[in-house]
Amino acid sequence: MISHIMREWSGFSKICVIAALTTVAVTAVAVVVMSKKKKKEYELVGHVSALYCYPVKSCSGITNKIAFCTYSGLRMSNVLDRHFLITRADGTFVTQRQVPKLAGVKTSIVGQELQLDYEGKEYIRTPLYPKFSKDFIVPVRIWKHNVEAQFCGQDVSNWLSSALEEDLQLVVYVPGVTQRLSTTKNAIDKDKVSFPDESPYHIITEESLHDLNLRIPSSENGEITTQNFRPNIVIKGVKSAWDEDNWVSLKIGNKLEMRVLAPCDRCVMTTVDPEECKRRNDEEPLKTLRSFRLFPEVNKTAPLFGIFTGVTVENTIRVEDPVYALRK
Ligand SMILES: *[C@@H]1O[C@H](CO)[C@@H](O)[C@H](O)[C@H]1NC(C)=O
Repeated sequence: MISHIMREWSGFSKICVIAALTTVAVTAVAVVVMSKKKKKEYELVGHVSALYCYPVKSCSGITNKIAFCTYSGLRMSNVLDRHFLITRADGTFVTQRQVPKLAGVKTSIVGQELQLDYEGKEYIRTPLYPKFSKDFIVPVRIWKHNVEAQFCGQDVSNWLSSALEEDLQLVVYVPGVTQRLSTTKNAIDKDKVSFPDESPYHIITEESLHDLNLRIPSSENGEITTQNFRPNIVIKGVKSAWDEDNWVSLKIGNKLEMRVLAPCDRCVMTTVDPEECKRRNDEEPLKTLRSFRLFPEVNKTAPLFGIFTGVTVENTIRVEDPVYALRK
């Protein structure tokens, strides 16, 4: 009798052990499978083809083969992207949206100075880093943000006013005084900016630009170029146009790391011809972009082109650097 019970017990405990082992094994396999699925790797997606910095917001930019990516934007030739801003006398910011002729103001860096050139005018220069002066701190308004910046003086402001035939002033970013948080979705505390619209970086790919141009009916206005979109970083060699829609984070060159914050919703400024310095009469590229790049869940009226990013690990960036992406 007792031995019978013992036999039953040992049979039962055997089943228990087998059941338990099976559960452990199944769970282990499931965990391995799931972690394999979740663990995505960075893949080579292309190479850096061009770098741009726009020392004065909405004016023509500068380009170089090397730059440094700071949390607050690209620094090239010792000047931060959108380091200067043009405002009306009351401090409200001005861009090519209101003054397309701004595209004709050429910028260059000469030593520690910004040089401005405009057709038919003698150039003018102003310090990149003027000595801080409380008396020159003025309120400026950029989109919904009220910040303070340093007035660059009457000479350069008069020069701009006479070139553009409007009463304008030039102000410069003062770290710590001017800084505002990026307003882009998913931006974090590190993403503090000077005067870009919303995000520290804007990236586009040559392949998407090419696809867009193929779709635009040919017109006397000519092709759309990178300068219609004013990116900081252009990437070439992606396997298909619009690949950037799937990127979550990037590693560029040696140690530079970026987070993708959001896709970029495009406004009427893209229709300013960067050479002619006036709006195109065919409303391109907005018109064509609206026909296939409108994603109402992101923006009901503005089509998407390019991506906004922020820096996770600061570093140098060079033309030809490989670009690795982690996909969604
Ligand atoms: C849509 O995009 C336009 C142009 O960039 C912008 O002004 C507007 O605020 C955006 N709307 C939303 C809901 O994000």
